[in-house]
Amino acid sequence: MGVKREHFGRMGVILALAGSAIGLGNIWRFPYMVGEYGGAAFIIVYLVFAFLISLPAFLAESLIGRKTGKSTYDALENLAPGTKWKWLGMLAVLGAFIITSYYSVVGGWSLDFLARSVVRGFDSANPEGAAVVFDRMTGSTIEPLLAHALFLGFSCMIIVLGVRKGIDRFSKVCIPLLFVLIVAMMLFSLSLPGSKDGLDYLLKPDFSKLTPRGIACALGQSFFSMSIGMGVVLTYSSYMKKQQKILATSVLTLIFDIFFAVISGFVVMPAVFSAGLRPEAGPSLVFESIPYIFAQMGAASPLLGRVMAIGFFLTILIAALTSEISMIESCVSMLMERLHWGRRKATWVIFCAALLLGCWCSLRSNVFSFCDFVSSNVFMMLGALAFTLFAGWKMDRAAVQNEFTNGGSLKISSALFGAFYFLIKYLVPPAILVIFFTNLL
Ligand code: PFF
Repeated sequence: MGVKREHFGRMGVILALAGSAIGLGNIWRFPYMVGEYGGAAFIIVYLVFAFLISLPAFLAESLIGRKTGKSTYDALENLAPGTKWKWLGMLAVLGAFIITSYYSVVGGWSLDFLARSVVRGFDSANPEGAAVVFDRMTGSTIEPLLAHALFLGFSCMIIVLGVRKGIDRFSKVCIPLLFVLIVAMMLFSLSLPGSKDGLDYLLKPDFSKLTPRGIACALGQSFFSMSIGMGVVLTYSSYMKKQQKILATSVLTLIFDIFFAVISGFVVMPAVFSAGLRPEAGPSLVFESIPYIFAQMGAASPLLGRVMAIGFFLTILIAALTSEISMIESCVSMLMERLHWGRRKATWVIFCAALLLGCWCSLRSNVFSFCDFVSSNVFMMLGALAFTLFAGWKMDRAAVQNEFTNGGSLKISSALFGAFYFLIKYLVPPAILVIFFTNLL
């Protein structure tokens, strides 16, 4: 139909990519994994993986999108016509769709908790209070379904507004706000009595806890956190202007993401230890322990407790929204291009389908876990593998270099490009395979 492709502004694309990267993964998964797998020891491995594996994988996916200016399926078909690569692209988008559905359920919980914080807060007398609220909420059928529908519906409204007026504008407001919120929360959390134990828990390296599974989790978490392998990076990069610096954009996204994850650890763990709770609660920590902490605080100073709870759940909600819209855009953009649908129609279809799958996830915890497992351990890994193999082995080295250096106009040393090319050819694919099999065992 020859619809003109929209483009992000220069800051818009960085903030949108950062918005996709910064999400629930940073706030509830990262702090918990750090504690579980050896504190600083895990952080060191995480950082090494982030720069040596995730960054090249992110760049590989990004340059395919920017080069073609197409969404996942068409981008691969465009560069390798008549081959099967496009089907791998389709698989990646299917993975994004599955995450969209269950992620929206968790987004709904944060919406619900935000509303509770605003309306009446949590019970300070009962440490089990929040856990009970959480169980009741996830157990009762209608409330979480409604919250899921609202969260998904709002995300879809941003998508309908388009790349420039929707995603770009929304990210520009949300990302700076997120940073202000999380830093304020960290300062507060660190000022709580007994918070030092939380810091020790996060930072003391304990290499004995760094098991092979912990190492595999570090890479899995890094991919999930950087939104790699789902066609999201590819799709957003396809809206990038040709003069944008692809390497700088990727490095900045990575730094924002790591910063946010580490700061989230400094928010969650000191608060958990200060309240005398144990961090073993795992992923539910954020929805069970944290509300109790704010409630306790509220017993001493009701206004403070309430403000902190609102700030915390607002942070989670915004972080979840910017990630959710990136996944929806990956799906919508492919439908628009493949089926020549308008943006509104494609968004409606994804809304209805994700609403249904999300409701199923909300009602059946085994469906929820299955969706989480296959999307993060199978689709995401295969997607990341496909994009790196494609850039490393299928595309011409000159074409890759051309994209990396904006047609030679950027002063990027050939050694730096050589290192990147070496990594996507020889290090990243086997590393993904090792992690893929470790996770399946
Ligand atoms: N990066 C997001 C987070 O850390 O919560 C999750 C995510 C977004 C995963 C987009 C995959 C994706 F395509």
